[in-house]
Amino acid sequence: MASDQGVVTIRPAVQEDLSDIAAIYNHEIANSTATFDLEPPTYAYWEQRLAGKHEGDHLLVAVDEDEDVVGYAYSWSYRPRPAYDLTRETSIYLDPSVRGRGIGRVLYPALLEAMAASGVHTAVALVALPNPGSIALHKACGFEHVGTMREVGWKFDQWVDVEWYQKLLS
Ligand SMILES: CC(C)(COP(=O)(O)OP(=O)(O)OC[C@H]1O[C@@H](n2cnc3c(N)ncnc32)[C@H](O)[C@@H]1OP(=O)(O)O)[C@@H](O)C(=O)NCCC(=O)NCCS
Repeated sequence: MASDQGVVTIRPAVQEDLSDIAAIYNHEIANSTATFDLEPPTYAYWEQRLAGKHEGDHLLVAVDEDEDVVGYAYSWSYRPRPAYDLTRETSIYLDPSVRGRGIGRVLYPALLEAMAASGVHTAVALVALPNPGSIALHKACGFEHVGTMREVGWKFDQWVDVEWYQKLLS
């Protein structure tokens, strides 16, 4: 895929990508309300996402021409009770240096395709406000806004609202 800053390839993540993935996410924890994590998760957290034992779970990366990881997206359990199994929650994060250049529009559909191919029925995503880039990405990828929860997060000394998005995959 060609983006404004060169060629980006989407592929399943491998063990060697995990520290780059963690660095992208940890930057967001420290600087943004996009995630409600307050401290970096353990390395085991990422290993668990890579191992993805459930059929619909995928961890993909976007890499540049130098094979550097510039973003990742994954699907995971929405809720643990088994009737929710064919519903998976999605997440996507890019390095700040490559945002707004069309990479999300390639990486996220690749994740949704992989999920659909493995039988996932519904993708759901949570967007903490404000996040115009994420809202635009979800809508561009066919998600619909299905609800807003007011003041469910407290981060950086403020209440944060959350919007829920959903896309039926099959
Ligand atoms: C959200 C994020 C994944 C989007 O990826 P991206 O590569 O920057 O987005 P793209 O360039 O592919 O753009 C996707 C769509 O959003 C629009 N868009 C991108 N950034 C935008 C912004 N800041 N404001 C409004 N629209 C924006 C684009 O025009 C495009 O819409 P279109 O296809 O209808 O033209 C990325 O910005 C990011 O990692 N943000 C920080 C982490 C984050 O918020 N993750 C999501 C948590 S819910």
